[in-house]
Amino acid sequence: MNSLPDHDLDKSTVTKAYARWAPVYDLVFGAVFERGRHAAIAAAERIGGRILEVGVGTGISLPHYSRSCRLCGIDISAPMLRKAQERVTELKLTHVEGLWVMDAEHLSFPDGSFDVVVAQYVITTVPNPEATLDEFARVLKPGGEIVLVSRVGAEAGLRRSLEHWFQPAARKLGWRTEFSFVRYARWAANASGMRLIERRAMPPFGHFNLIRFGKDGGASRIIESMPMRAAG
Ligand SMILES: C[S@@+](CC[C@H](N)C(=O)[O-])C[C@H]1O[C@@H](n2cnc3c(N)ncnc32)[C@H](O)[C@@H]1O
Repeated sequence: MNSLPDHDLDKSTVTKAYARWAPVYDLVFGAVFERGRHAAIAAAERIGGRILEVGVGTGISLPHYSRSCRLCGIDISAPMLRKAQERVTELKLTHVEGLWVMDAEHLSFPDGSFDVVVAQYVITTVPNPEATLDEFARVLKPGGEIVLVSRVGAEAGLRRSLEHWFQPAARKLGWRTEFSFVRYARWAANASGMRLIERRAMPPFGHFNLIRFGKDGGASRIIESMPMRAAG
């Protein structure tokens, strides 16, 4: 496995990092992650209904969801979430049901609460990615989907070496550079009732992937005919 042990990233480091990012986050990461966000929203809207956005941050993606969806957002960073709340108020985003400071690994929603769980650029920032994905699966309704846009580390070569070298600095900024796709595939293989539906390369440079997991049961089986695409 290419990943570092789980203790490489702790919640207090991440919380402090995002308190620093909050005032400038949209400026730095707005445009660069835009295509990934739009792809995730399009995937989520194919299911629709009640959607949980985990690590909603400054709420940058909220205005782009159709008003027919009902959105809930959670984030561990209160300063990031304050920006999201300002956005909801300013733009009168009435399709946003609520925003809560909450840890992705310990969601306070009952089982089967959501049709879709979306997490954009979040999974590589949590200390226990697999436990966090378990929690996403728990709050998902049967037939629902987990939609991730996430960094996928290189398996070998120069990029792999650079990612390894940059990891200590990245940790201080609040994320991991090393994170193999094997971790996602292995999680899906071991998680009861969950399966990998799609993996698609996303810009910048294909270093990110759109990853969809489906939960068995329910009506959304109809859209499973979408082919699984490997990252280029
Ligand atoms: C890279 S930002 C992504 C923000 C937003 N999703 C976007 O598309 O730009 C990662 C977000 O995940 C949040 N986050 C990190 N760890 C978390 C956790 N354990 N629980 C909830 N949110 C977390 C951070 O506070 C931050 O807002």
